[in-house]
Amino acid sequence: MKRFENKKVVVIGGTHGMGLATVKALIDGGAKVCLTGNNPGNIDRVKADLGANVSVIRSDASSLSDIDRLRETISDVFGSIDALLIFAAVAEFEPFDHVSEASFDRQFALNTKGAFFVAQRLAPLIKDGGSITFTTVTPATGSPTMSVYMGTKAAVRAFARVFAAELLVRGIRVNALAPGFVDTPSLGLASLTPEVRQEVYDIGNQVTPMKRHGTVEEIASGALFLAFDATFFTGIELPIDGGLSTVDCPE
Ligand SMILES: NC(=O)c1ccc[n+]([C@@H]2O[C@H](COP(=O)([O-])OP(=O)(O)OC[C@H]3O[C@@H](n4cnc5c(N)ncnc54)[C@H](OP(=O)(O)O)[C@@H]3O)[C@@H](O)[C@H]2O)c1
Repeated sequence: MKRFENKKVVVIGGTHGMGLATVKALIDGGAKVCLTGNNPGNIDRVKADLGANVSVIRSDASSLSDIDRLRETISDVFGSIDALLIFAAVAEFEPFDHVSEASFDRQFALNTKGAFFVAQRLAPLIKDGGSITFTTVTPATGSPTMSVYMGTKAAVRAFARVFAAELLVRGIRVNALAPGFVDTPSLGLASLTPEVRQEVYDIGNQVTPMKRHGTVEEIASGALFLAFDATFFTGIELPIDGGLSTVDCPE
């Protein structure tokens, strides 16, 4: 029997990066998967690549009406689910005195409000004994230009703990995965130019004690550990960051 045989899993933000790597690992393990994304081009590409193995749904995680429609669709397709993993987020890096209201609202609308309401609205579909896995960011020291993004994720860290407390009664474990620098197509920084993204990439390799970026497969492995194997973990934030938050960085 495969590792995830008979498991039904929803991945919010599964069209590329860590979410897609997690979807692929789930499919390899025999799970039934429903993934979401918001970009129509990515939705079409993933549908073509993954075929009938997975339900691919366009759903804007910052829109309450989309989230409610998604809940109806998942309820029709799957009935109940074993695990919900939430990856969707956006990062816009700029010094605090350059942050506009629009940029602040975009990041909080998806990363914070979206994560909250996806978990709230889909929780009734999660089987007792199932799990929710949020995605935050490594709890390393404050870095310039990341005030709003870090703020959005600090709230999600808090959601993981309080949802964990409130869902104890149903045996649903709730945790957060906290990546460091990870080699995804966007590096989580879709709004940056390729040149600036390369600079961020080089800095990531330099400041990470293990002197490299993590791979999406390494993050998927951590995500699936929290979702299925970590049966005595709830309310935790698990850094997967090459030692960035815990170990002195060698020169
Ligand atoms: N990469 C890193 O180094 C890094 C480091 C720390 C934390 N993280 C966090 O890890 C998570 C995944 O990062 P990543 O680099 O894999 O991200 P990513 O490549 O930018 O992908 C994020 C996913 O979210 C989806 N998405 C974007 N806007 C959406 C919306 N409005 N509604 C629904 N889905 C939406 C994207 O799909 P479409 O584009 O197709 O809509 C994609 O599937 C994020 O929470 C990020 O903040 C990343």
